[in-house]
Parts: sequence; structure tokens; C-alpha cells
Amino acid sequence: IFGPNEGGSAAAKERNAQNQGVSDADWARVQLDDEVPEAVKEPVRMTHSRNVSRVDAATPSHASLQPSPIPEGTETAAVAREQKITPFDVEGGVDADGKETGIDYEKVVRRFGATMISPDLLERFEKLTGHRPHPLLRRGTFFSHRDFNLILDRYEKGQPFYLYTGRGPSSDSMHMGHLIPFMFTAWLQRVFNVPLVVQITDDEKYLLERDAKKQAALQKKIKAKKPLNLLDHYHKMGQDNIKDIIACGVLPEKTFIFSNLSYVGGPFYRNVVLMGKTLTVNNVKGVFGFSDSDNAGMFHFAAIQATPSFSNSFPQIFGERDDIPCLIPCAIDQDPYFLVTRDSADKLGYKKPCLLHSKFLPALQGANTKMSASNENSAIFMTDDAKKIAKKIKSHAFSGGGATQEEHQRLGGNPDIDVAYQYLSFFEDDDEKMKSLSDGYRAGTLSTSQMKEACIAKITAVVEEFQKNRAAVTDEILHAYQDPTRKIDPRPVAKTQE
Ligand code: TRP
Repeated sequence: IFGPNEGGSAAAKERNAQNQGVSDADWARVQLDDEVPEAVKEPVRMTHSRNVSRVDAATPSHASLQPSPIPEGTETAAVAREQKITPFDVEGGVDADGKETGIDYEKVVRRFGATMISPDLLERFEKLTGHRPHPLLRRGTFFSHRDFNLILDRYEKGQPFYLYTGRGPSSDSMHMGHLIPFMFTAWLQRVFNVPLVVQITDDEKYLLERDAKKQAALQKKIKAKKPLNLLDHYHKMGQDNIKDIIACGVLPEKTFIFSNLSYVGGPFYRNVVLMGKTLTVNNVKGVFGFSDSDNAGMFHFAAIQATPSFSNSFPQIFGERDDIPCLIPCAIDQDPYFLVTRDSADKLGYKKPCLLHSKFLPALQGANTKMSASNENSAIFMTDDAKKIAKKIKSHAFSGGGATQEEHQRLGGNPDIDVAYQYLSFFEDDDEKMKSLSDGYRAGTLSTSQMKEACIAKITAVVEEFQKNRAAVTDEILHAYQDPTRKIDPRPVAKTQE
């Protein structure tokens, strides 16, 4: 059915020592809740080594809750609105003058208690795997992690581990922002040659539609007689999305993709139950920012997204083994799910999941804007043809070039805010080429339209390759990936194939 298949460090110890006594979820609470959580009111937390010295229980606000190791006085100017990042809302900050400041990723990482990916870590990755880190990794789109070094330790020793990622289905056709994480995950899978499980959260999409009016409108639009028909709707969208995920090049013989509405049961459900009991309502409210009027299903869903982190949820791959950890590549907004998972793993006697976090990918309109499936011109869609891609990049990609040609030649441009340069940097493996483009741009010898041409050529190639793969995904292949009885060999290959 499947087509041919192409081709304990010191730092960890230090981090573990640092983390002692404060659970990951307590940290998330500190970071995400508007109110001062109980945990923070306890003096012990305030004197803890992470240096939450400026926590002031009397004046609770995001700003005062910052568990930041940076010294007093180096903090930026007053903020009118702190940035907010939960799986359901992502908002950049606003400064005292009312100016949007976008997302400060270093701040997010400090608050979440994660770790920035260091050059040393990437060097270790390259040494061990024999692969240059993917452009998304070495140029900082994947920028933060939890315990990635432990995964590398296991790789080094030939011990098993697996990859886990997921997607909440949407009907809108997928754009590049949706698929880049899967392309990256597929690349990681090839490098490590390990199993990958992909969770399609069709249940989540139904539960999380908090707007009753919107839901009623959708029900009407799809002529759904009962809420049950809505579940079918989300399930169907998920099936479509799975075809896109397959087209990103995941390894057929090592990948299991499942829809929650179809797969949850058996050993997987046992773990959902175990996980569910470890979470208190307080816990979930704090970490996800839910309120008392949110539906109980949403609260419970946290246990369902946590469960693929435990290897015995997949007996067809790992049998009854519950001691095989996973690595989860995900956007940073999904981190709260895995903070609670990491806490609960200890209680359940399971391994903690490890994570690689990505930034959000900017829309064509530039930094601080979001690709949106409902805005045709904000993103490159995977169904766009070469002509459309060229047109979108030419007319909508935010340019870091000079205002006029003359000014550009005289003063040069700024590649760092240039969307064409940025999109190119996600995929272009050739560092020399990237350097010559950015040098030329800064010097003003390379024009905006030349930069855009380089971007168009690369993006078109990536999208066309995807479309070729997508066209080859038949319903039979779609079902084969989701077959829960298909055995998958979890054994890693210690040294890479190439
Ligand atoms: N909640 C995610 C979404 O809405 C889907 C998801 C489930 C996921 N499990 C995951 C994403 C693991 C990243 C990693 O898209």
C-alpha cells in the first residue's frame, strides 16, 4: 500500500537540580494566570532558585509575576498589556504608549521555565546524527526545548524513543504555517529513524468552539440536524488534513496517525483515565486560563492531548512498555498541555515527554501578523499554483528594502524584517547563499525584487513537491496510516542511514 520510502548531560543535571521542588505546572500557573495562584503565595516559591524575587502578592499582575533571572533595572519599559500565550489565545504585548510590541520569545521561555536551544546543543545534535540541523532549527524557528538533551542521550546509546505531534483539524485549506511543523517533524523522523504518532484532535475542535452562535451557524451551514453531526464534520476535516500530513513526507512504516474520535479506547483510554485523575480543576484553570463557564469537556480534554506522551498508549508499537519517552515538536502555545503532562508523568510512574518549541510563523504582511486561513493574502496555501505564489509574494510580502530604489541603493535594506528573506530561510539549506543574499541586501546591491525572486523559486519548489505527494495519497493509504492493528517496529537505528 505504501509507496517507496525515500530517503545525561551536565546541562540536564543542572536544570533538574534547578527545577527541584517546583513542578512544571506550578510554573505555568505563575505564567499564565491573571490571578496570583496559591502556589505563588507560598513564600517558599518566592525564594526559590529561579529567582521569583519580584513577586508581590499584594499587587498581582503579569508583570509582577515574572520569574525572571535578569537583574532589576534591565527590564523593558512599562507595559500596557502583557503578552498572553495559551493554546487558545495568542496576543502580543502592548507598551505604555499603546504600541504593539509583538511576542517576546525569550520572555515566554523564561516564564514557561523552558530552555533556549543553544549552539552547543545543536552541535551535539550534528555530531551524533551526522546531519546538519534543519534550517528551521539552526535559524531559530524552533528555538526552545525541554530535555532535548535527554533524547540525544538516548539516541547516542541506541535506546528507543519516539516523536509525537498533532493537529486540530480545520476545514480551511492548509497553509504553509500549518504544514511547516509537519515538514520539520518528518525531517526529524528521518534523521532519528524512530516511530511517529500524530494525534488529530477532532474532539478538541468541537469542544473548544466556545462561541455558541458560531457553532449554531456552522450547524446550519452544514445542515447538521444534531450536535452529533457536527462531530462527523470535524472528523471529516481531520481526514482531509491527514492526507496533507502524509504528503509532508512522514515515514510510512514508522508512522501512526489517529483521530481521537476513532481511536480513543483500550489502553489509550486507560491512560486518559489515569491522567485525568492527576489534574485538578484548579490546575487546569490556572494553566489554560479556563473559567467556570467553560464546558467540562474542555477541562477533560487536557488528559486526552497528554496521553500520546505515554508509550503504552500504543500497544501496536511499544507493547506494554511504558518507559519509552517521546519528543514533541510543537508551537510554543501548546506547551501548557505538556507542562501538566510532565508533572503527571512522575505521579504515574511514566517518562516525561521532551519538547522542541517553535515560534509562530509570520504572515506575508510581516512580523507581528498571523497567517490566517480566512485571509487569502496572508499566507501561501498548499493548493496555490506557481503563478499565485509569485503574485502573492510580489504584491504582499512585507519588504525590508528601502522606500525607493534610489534609497535602497544608498542605504541598503534590512533582511531581518524582510518576509521574502525570512520565508526563504525556512527552507534554503545553503548558508553561503543566505549570507550573500543578506549581505547584498544590506549593501543595497541586491534589490527587493531579486530577493523576492529567490524566495519565489524556493517556495514554489517546496509547494510543488508537496502537491505531487498529496496527489498520490489515496484513500487506501489514508486508512493504512490509521490502522490500529498495524505493527510498527520501534527499534531505532543508532547510526543514520546516509
Ligand atoms: N491542540 C493542537 C491543535 O489545536 C493539536 C495537538 C494535539 C498537538 N496533540 C499535539 C499539537 C501535540 C502539537 C503537539 O492544533
